[in-house]
Amino acid sequence: MTNVTTEHSPTLKLKLETREARIGIVGMGYVGLPLALLFSSEGFRVTGFDIAADKVATLNAGKSYIVRILPEAIEAARKAGFSATSDYAGIAEMDAIIICVPTPLDEHHEPDLSFVTGTVKALSPNIHEGQLIVLESTTYPGTTEEVVVPLLESGNRHGLRVARGGETSGVHVAFSPEREDPGNDSVDRRDIPKVVGGCSSAAAELAAAMYGSIFHRVVPVSSPAAAEMTKLLENIYRCVNIALVNELKQLCIRMGIDIHEVIDAAKTKPFGFQAFYPGPGLGGHCIPIDPFYLSWKAREFDFRTRFIELAGEVNTAMPYFVLEQMAAALNEHGKNFKGSKVLILGVAYKRDIDDLRESPALTIIELLRKKGANVAYNDPFFAKVGHGRKYDLNMTRAPLDDLGQYDAVVIVTDHSSYDYARIVREAQLVIDTRNATRGIESAKIIHC
Ligand SMILES: NC(=O)c1ccc[n+]([C@@H]2O[C@H](COP(=O)([O-])OP(=O)(O)OC[C@H]3O[C@@H](n4cnc5c(N)ncnc54)[C@H](O)[C@@H]3O)[C@@H](O)[C@H]2O)c1
Repeated sequence: MTNVTTEHSPTLKLKLETREARIGIVGMGYVGLPLALLFSSEGFRVTGFDIAADKVATLNAGKSYIVRILPEAIEAARKAGFSATSDYAGIAEMDAIIICVPTPLDEHHEPDLSFVTGTVKALSPNIHEGQLIVLESTTYPGTTEEVVVPLLESGNRHGLRVARGGETSGVHVAFSPEREDPGNDSVDRRDIPKVVGGCSSAAAELAAAMYGSIFHRVVPVSSPAAAEMTKLLENIYRCVNIALVNELKQLCIRMGIDIHEVIDAAKTKPFGFQAFYPGPGLGGHCIPIDPFYLSWKAREFDFRTRFIELAGEVNTAMPYFVLEQMAAALNEHGKNFKGSKVLILGVAYKRDIDDLRESPALTIIELLRKKGANVAYNDPFFAKVGHGRKYDLNMTRAPLDDLGQYDAVVIVTDHSSYDYARIVREAQLVIDTRNATRGIESAKIIHC
């Protein structure tokens, strides 16, 4: 990498290395807030920017709205100078800005970049020469250079340009994907290597200096597009492999083979195999969505991403498969969906987290209701379920007692707080989509 020799940037590099730089993080959600707390705990002065006034007020009151982030962590950050604001004027005082806003799909299943473009338009009048701006939102290759850079250049008042290639003056722009795995505390955040691709060597160097003061390893790549593609490769790899085991699970059920026994045996191979586990379908803000960002972009190149489409098809069908298996199990008991009482256990999209986005539980509840079932749910993280992407469920949590009243109890999310032995003992019928009841022998359990 070249050395940065601009008037502003050497100062910024030094400020980043000595942690004197002021960091602004835009988007105080599941990604941005923990990142802000991390930078703050490492001695940086951090300001969080968010358009949601209630989040700003909550943070400034030293409280949290994400279960796994304790108020004590926010209070500690506040003591170290952290504050939140909705006022973009404060962007001018920042040395570096990290953007962590949502990148969902729209109703046509196409990338919705409105949060990214809205953010960049709002911050560009306040940017200054030598500032570092890093996009962390997951997106298709090309977004940083084709969307973010032109908006930054057209939106600022001083005719500022973004440094490209070997240029050393201007605004420094980079992309660095967020690789967090919510609910997985087995890897320290600092041990997750940080991939960085800059629009210029100077931007890459500055971004590496910023993240290098926190993360133990920075992995530079040659461009923002390579960094954007890296994140998509990681998530597509997961999506495709989960689809593979979901398909094989369906075959194994037909063949009378336990897929989990097979996976456990296969993963004893010391090379060439990584275990993925089947479930009731994909959820969360990443795996069901990100691959389609690439499918969309690929069309511009007259290219069909067939693995992504096939994986999407298999994974999307999983809630329907769960219903088929349930119908067969109820039938064995001389019952059908209409009028049956069903308890859904776990509505979060995965174990031990308070995130409902794209959860397959929402689809399963909706499908069961359409078939005339009387559906209740229990989840330690949600006292109420309002609406998902497509559904307005309007339900409140049922207590975890009197399980015998339900015709079926469906384990959709295997939260670790549940006592599965008791659930099996008390329920009439258990539909287990996660192998949560492994080791419990009972004719009441249907694995699917
Ligand atoms: N959640 C994860 O586990 C995860 C992991 C890796 C990558 N990502 C990616 O990170 C990005 C952010 O995801 P998230 O889960 O933190 O989303 P989130 O919805 O939890 O948080 C986004 C925040 O951005 C705020 N916001 C929206 N528009 C804004 C604007 N114009 N100005 C300021 N704030 C604005 C929202 O109010 C919200 O607080 C997405 O691209 C996502 O794909 C998420």
